[in-house]
Amino acid sequence: MCGIVGYVGGRPCRDLLIAGLEKLEYRGYDSAGISLIVDGRIESVRAVGNLANLRAAVNQPNGNGAVAVAEAPSTVGLAHTRWATHGRVTEENAHPHGDCEDRIHIVLNGIVENHAELHRELEAEGHRFSSETDAEIVAHLIERHDEGDLTDAVRRAFNDLRGHYAFVAMHSDHPGQLVAARRECPLIVGLGEGETFVASAIPAFLAETRKVTLIENGEIVTLDSDGAAISDTDGQPIARETEEVTWDEDAAEKSGFPTFMLKEIHEQPDAVAETIADRVHDDDRVDLDELDLDEGFVSKLRRIVIVACGTSYHAGLVGRYAIEQWARIPVEMDIASEYRYRDPVVGEGDLVIGITQSGETADTLAAMRLARERGATVMGVTNIMGSQVTRDSDTVLYTRAGLEIGVAATKTFVSQVAAMYLFGLWLADVRGSLERAEIARLVGELKALPSKIDEVIDAGDERVRAIARTHYEQRFFLYLGRNIGLPVCLEGALKLKEISYIPTDAYAAGEMKHGPIALLDESTPVICVVTDSPVMEKMLSNVAEVRARGADVIGVATDGAEAAVSAVADQTIVVPRTDWVMQPIVAIVPLQLLAYHIARMNGLNVDQPRNLAKTVTVE
Ligand code: AGP
Repeated sequence: MCGIVGYVGGRPCRDLLIAGLEKLEYRGYDSAGISLIVDGRIESVRAVGNLANLRAAVNQPNGNGAVAVAEAPSTVGLAHTRWATHGRVTEENAHPHGDCEDRIHIVLNGIVENHAELHRELEAEGHRFSSETDAEIVAHLIERHDEGDLTDAVRRAFNDLRGHYAFVAMHSDHPGQLVAARRECPLIVGLGEGETFVASAIPAFLAETRKVTLIENGEIVTLDSDGAAISDTDGQPIARETEEVTWDEDAAEKSGFPTFMLKEIHEQPDAVAETIADRVHDDDRVDLDELDLDEGFVSKLRRIVIVACGTSYHAGLVGRYAIEQWARIPVEMDIASEYRYRDPVVGEGDLVIGITQSGETADTLAAMRLARERGATVMGVTNIMGSQVTRDSDTVLYTRAGLEIGVAATKTFVSQVAAMYLFGLWLADVRGSLERAEIARLVGELKALPSKIDEVIDAGDERVRAIARTHYEQRFFLYLGRNIGLPVCLEGALKLKEISYIPTDAYAAGEMKHGPIALLDESTPVICVVTDSPVMEKMLSNVAEVRARGADVIGVATDGAEAAVSAVADQTIVVPRTDWVMQPIVAIVPLQLLAYHIARMNGLNVDQPRNLAKTVTVE
């Protein structure tokens, strides 16, 4: 989730733009850059690392900081913080990016899904590329369509692109103008006196103006010092009211949500959409060419081992079902802090997958290193480019959830599960263990997941809040599930533990009669995940068992199967139907929300729970 800021107006904007980037630091980044139009040409500075590096670079006298040297105040410019998804963390890959003549510069947040195809076309037309990014494509596309009208060139470039992104462009021939466009990723205009801002989030210019215009999906906006003109993809003008933002800076960072955790729960549809973007194409195949995994090795693979900690371990458990079901390869799963000390039997021919959103968790890194020393091929699944795990792995599959600030992992969990679904389907395709038609059906289901998660959040939150209201004073919760429902229970139970400090237990429902059933009495709330799966009937009878002992049963059911669950549960939460192996990615959302509302109703700080750190780098 990159940060973009643009300014056109009467004031020198170099420091205004960098100040705007500082307000977007919470979005996370690994490099940054700024471009300004100075005396009819574009000057640009980019730097890897934090904004202090960019500030230092900009203030280098006679360095590459031409911007600093050009004391003639520039009043139009772009700036960007990069959260790398395509291309390594380097100065060349930092934004802004330019066209062949450096007369057009752009900054972009999001992903261009058809970048490979466009890159080939433009290269064939003679365009020269200077970065590994998907974003640079946009500058060259505008150059391709440039006939003197920047808005028209941006519109035509926009119509060539596929994916979800927002970008801003400037042209040295049009020093009084910026043109921006949006598909899915957020874009907001800030209107000041004789000046106009554009950004990916309101905090970037909130200190300068509270008058905003929201840019909707598929819109192009032309900005100058007098304001903004919105048009659609055919050039038809669109009228839009301006609004007054009442948020304080803290709320703005949370996009108006009371906490980062709730903001990040709401970002889950985007996190999954970005994670699968440009890895699933129109031909309904999964493309993981980015992985350095030889197909010969994959075809002969006899075993996979997954190691991880905490929430990442639960994502691995879902991944095991997907890989075993679709690719028919046995998957061994272990908690990293156990795996590293059990002298595991692992070696050449084995693939060991380490899942870690931060990429810095000591136990997971140690488990991966041990496996690698013993000859295994090691793949990292992480959310952070440049993190330690990327250096300790033979190949890396990136999730694209953006920076997660809340200690309790939410959007990184669903993006890890989506990454496991991609990997499972890719393996099945390479190994031919599934018919093409079945892979196409499952890829179709995968593409539909972001909107189904959206549906659960929008339709389910009120229902979950009502259940929380009648349960937040409870002092113990039991979670029950079977088969692919069990990892959902383990994750739901962990969420409630870590943010509400209420003891919870998650159990395989078939195990109940072997002991835990003794825990139950009239008041025990039991969360039962009864989503669609091959053992649905079995699970229903387990629920009936605990209900028979008077427990207070809250069932999570798949749309269309809620009647059977309601028959054995006191309350039922319904989630959208998808393929049974993909049910966990929607079924976890109400359990995240339940933990959230219970913790909030107990007046707790959900973003920074006691005794917990976001990244556990100690052994
Ligand atoms: C989850 O909410 C916790 N923050 C914690 O269990 C976390 O999942 C665990 O520490 C693993 O972190 P990682 O994914 O960064 O390796």
